[in-house]
Amino acid sequence: MAQGVNIENFSFWYGPTQVVKNISLSAPERQVTALIGPSGCGKTTLLRSINRMHDLTTGTRSEGRITVGEEDIFSAAVDPVDLRRRVGMIFQTPSPFPHLSVYENVAAGLRLHGLARGKEIAERVEACLCKAALWEEVKEHLHRPGALLSGGQQQRLCIARALAVEPEVFLMDEPCASLDPVGTMRIEELIGELKHDYTVLIVTHNMHQASRISDQTAFLLNGEMVEVGITKEIFLAPQDPRTEAYLTWKIG
Ligand SMILES: Nc1ncnc2c1ncn2[C@@H]1O[C@H](COP(=O)(O)OP(=O)(O)O)[C@@H](O)[C@H]1O
Ligand SMILES: [Mg+2]
Repeated sequence: MAQGVNIENFSFWYGPTQVVKNISLSAPERQVTALIGPSGCGKTTLLRSINRMHDLTTGTRSEGRITVGEEDIFSAAVDPVDLRRRVGMIFQTPSPFPHLSVYENVAAGLRLHGLARGKEIAERVEACLCKAALWEEVKEHLHRPGALLSGGQQQRLCIARALAVEPEVFLMDEPCASLDPVGTMRIEELIGELKHDYTVLIVTHNMHQASRISDQTAFLLNGEMVEVGITKEIFLAPQDPRTEAYLTWKIG
């Protein structure tokens, strides 16, 4: 079930360096929120904070509050492994488990989280591959390594793998950066489907992509959020001159 993400006065430091500065942003459920802004402005850092990926990096620190649904993700009651099941992440470089087959890439999470057993596993794997618009292309080769698929197929396999463990939110960090136009189009179509059931936050450098697929756009600069609003309004009539300058430079 989709859950909204609410970020309140969130700041983040790598060692002494603050790279996210007091950002507040609400990503409503069943909508696509795009994060845009120049390289190094903190998009990936903010995105990774939402499933506590920085827990794994020493020397980092954050302040502020992030909730998924009603739950504060930093509360002691939250198990980070379960949080990462609920908040799936899709990376810039497709990253299926390289030594596992297409089938096992999806089945592994089901087993790990005890979500299916026996015959049910095969049914769930098929359902997730269908939902990720990959089934028709792989159904004859389910036991080949996932790493042999094309980049676009690998990215859809990662989405199928995330779908299998019943997420509430998808975080996507430039998911089309390494894909050709056809692969990109397939992922964009898939995001359009996913948003009926999930909350999606996506980082993109492609302004056309942001305007095609997102409902809401947030513009970040030097760790600060300059502006957030309905995508059409941000693109047609940005309120802040820095947003306008960025969009003009990017797409003009
Ligand atoms: N692991 C890290 N350690 C120290 N600094 C980092 C680390 N990861 C990113 N940074 C720095 O944090 C800033 C924000 O990076 P990032 O969130 O990756 O930006 P974006 O995704 O917008 O390009 C950059 O200045 C980057 O160099
Ligand atoms: Mg990044």
